[in-house]
Amino acid sequence: MIKQAIIPLAGLGTRLLPLTSVFPKELLPINGKPGIEYILDECIEAGIKEVVFIISKKKEMIKRYFYNDKFYKNIIKKKKDPRIIKEYQKILKYKKMIKFVYQNKPLGTGDAVLRTKKYIKNKFFLMLLPDDLIIKNNCSKTMIKVHQKYNSSVMASMHVNRKSVSRWGIYKLGKKLNKNNYVIKDVIEKPSISKAPSNKAVIGRYILPKKIFSKLLNQKPGKGGEVHITDAIQSFIQNDEKFIAHNFTGKYLDCGSMDGYIKSTLEIAKL
Ligand code: UTP
Repeated sequence: MIKQAIIPLAGLGTRLLPLTSVFPKELLPINGKPGIEYILDECIEAGIKEVVFIISKKKEMIKRYFYNDKFYKNIIKKKKDPRIIKEYQKILKYKKMIKFVYQNKPLGTGDAVLRTKKYIKNKFFLMLLPDDLIIKNNCSKTMIKVHQKYNSSVMASMHVNRKSVSRWGIYKLGKKLNKNNYVIKDVIEKPSISKAPSNKAVIGRYILPKKIFSKLLNQKPGKGGEVHITDAIQSFIQNDEKFIAHNFTGKYLDCGSMDGYIKSTLEIAKL
């Protein structure tokens, strides 16, 4: 069973400047609720019991958000406001399941994943990239079912515009397993249009094998000098490890870009 999830949060968030110059993007409100809470709610509903946050010194405000007990207790003592009491209880519930590890230099997603090595107990774990919100269907929950059926790694996938392939990890389709699930043949991090093997992109939900840590330990930096998780996955695929692309059915919201962040508030308000 998949009971643990990891969430990389140590990136710089430059696409959302100036909002992110002092404030972590994951705490920015989306329709009155911090983005990270949508991600945690997705995890809880999918049956996840423990979440490891990868943060940096610059993003310690994320930790403080969950560890502000003294402040809440004082306010609640004075005001006894039922809404604040409910919000505090929700934060306490999140806090109980979160562990923090540090990546103080943004050396890439692969390097961020490696920081969680000592916490991962089972053969597989879930990773969620918090910029990618998926609404209307719990993508993690469905992916866990796919994982249980095929006993393999799974990644969320989506069709993207050909012109935008260089923003994503793009994969080559292999065998069709059923309507929404395909075996992945190759995956390339941020390819140019001419090198992209398809228009199919990997989105920020991954079920990864624990053995990826030993791969990451020896992995050299790739594009842009960063250690990418995609490169470790590609190396596994080349060694005949099965990775499934799951075409999710919910609606994708890109909260990591300014345009997408603004749109996500409007979309969630419609729910
Ligand atoms: P991105 O590279 O897409 O986003 O990382 P970013 O770096 O946060 O923001 P921009 O591109 O400067 O606007 C994808 C996810 O991986 C995390 C980020 O926090 C984000 O959730 N990440 C990225 C790390 O935790 N460590 C890294 O070294 C790189």
